[in-house]
Amino acid sequence: MNDTPTRQAASHVAEPIETRRWPEGEWTRIPFWVYTDPAVYAREQERIFGGPSWSYGALEAEIPNTGDFVVTHVGERAVIVVRGENGEVNAFANSCAHRGVAFCRQPRGNTQSFTCPYHQWNYDLTGKVTGIPFRRGYKGQGGMPKDFSIEGRQAPPVHVARRHGVVFLSFDPKAEPFETYLGAQLRYFDRVFDGRELKVLGYLQQRIGSNWKLMFENIKDPYHASVLHVFLMTFGLFRMDQQSAVEMDASGRHSALISRRGGAADEVAAREMANNLRTEYKLQDPRLLDPVREFPGDATVVMQTIWPNLIVQQQSNTLAMRQIVPRGPDAFDLNWTFFGYADDTPEMTQRRVRQANLMGPAGLVSADDSEVLAMSQQGLGDWPDNACIVEMGGRDVQDQPHMITEVAIRAFYKHYIEVMGL
Ligand SMILES: [Fe+2]
Repeated sequence: MNDTPTRQAASHVAEPIETRRWPEGEWTRIPFWVYTDPAVYAREQERIFGGPSWSYGALEAEIPNTGDFVVTHVGERAVIVVRGENGEVNAFANSCAHRGVAFCRQPRGNTQSFTCPYHQWNYDLTGKVTGIPFRRGYKGQGGMPKDFSIEGRQAPPVHVARRHGVVFLSFDPKAEPFETYLGAQLRYFDRVFDGRELKVLGYLQQRIGSNWKLMFENIKDPYHASVLHVFLMTFGLFRMDQQSAVEMDASGRHSALISRRGGAADEVAAREMANNLRTEYKLQDPRLLDPVREFPGDATVVMQTIWPNLIVQQQSNTLAMRQIVPRGPDAFDLNWTFFGYADDTPEMTQRRVRQANLMGPAGLVSADDSEVLAMSQQGLGDWPDNACIVEMGGRDVQDQPHMITEVAIRAFYKHYIEVMGL
């Protein structure tokens, strides 16, 4: 393996994807071009987001009543998720069967039917076309051909999987059952989504100037948390010497970073981190932290990534879905949905909302990530033929009982290389 930068300035002319070669070292090297090449991005839309995966779509708590809907995204594509007549959850593309118009203009709402503004084609809550103006013409003139059938006309359908109040979507009928899809990671999903009714607390939205994968990798990268996030270290929320683990499913695509707050600081770890520690800082309002134990087991933080677009955040008592919506190779939207449980006390809700100050575009912790991801994209883009080194914690893709590792990133790329055929 040759790690010396080649010093060939980027030509910015993308190679055809067929001639792309993954560098030697398999998943311990990530070529920079996977973050910048439009052809790679296009193949991701087709094979990852358009393939047999389950993308997070919405929480059922957002659409409790018949006719409640949200517009969400699977990869780049807009999908309407709506509560049907019989309590079921339906999903279909926001694209009119007539001329492809993205007919639903509200991000969320309640309706009895959908109408395309262009030619007023009408849709029921399952996405079927129920009405076409001037279908039979006017006074014997025009209209659709006599043999044109309205039967089976619909906005492109999207498959739905529901588990404990969370809605997942797939364009591919061959997607396996959601529980099988999550594999060994199902227990971490069920830890937060244990069947209790959820309550949405609010939304945050931001656009970040980096490739979508860098966000996903960020939550598979505990290494950075102990050095980049000064807030976490300063106030004792995360240290490398805490009892922790990184676990994946068998495919490597999903993962969980599990850690436990507290315990005596190890001297060596403390010295390593001393540069970033500000011991003189105190919180003016200690209620900003003030976590209480609420989940079984002794983990205080579990950050889970579910391929291909979801981060489930459980940092102390602040819970959020972070949905990744790719917006071209160099940008993505990060949609945060903060939630709690319907049976939370008002105090608990307040605590969740307070702790949410660590998160989001201006979050005391997350702001670091948004900034560093954009910096990554800048540096990567200039050197497409160079590659990331991903060897922290070894070169394998096995679960590890500590956080000084990039194993979950390696596992992700093991799967990614397969799916993408690179
Ligand atoms: Fe981070």
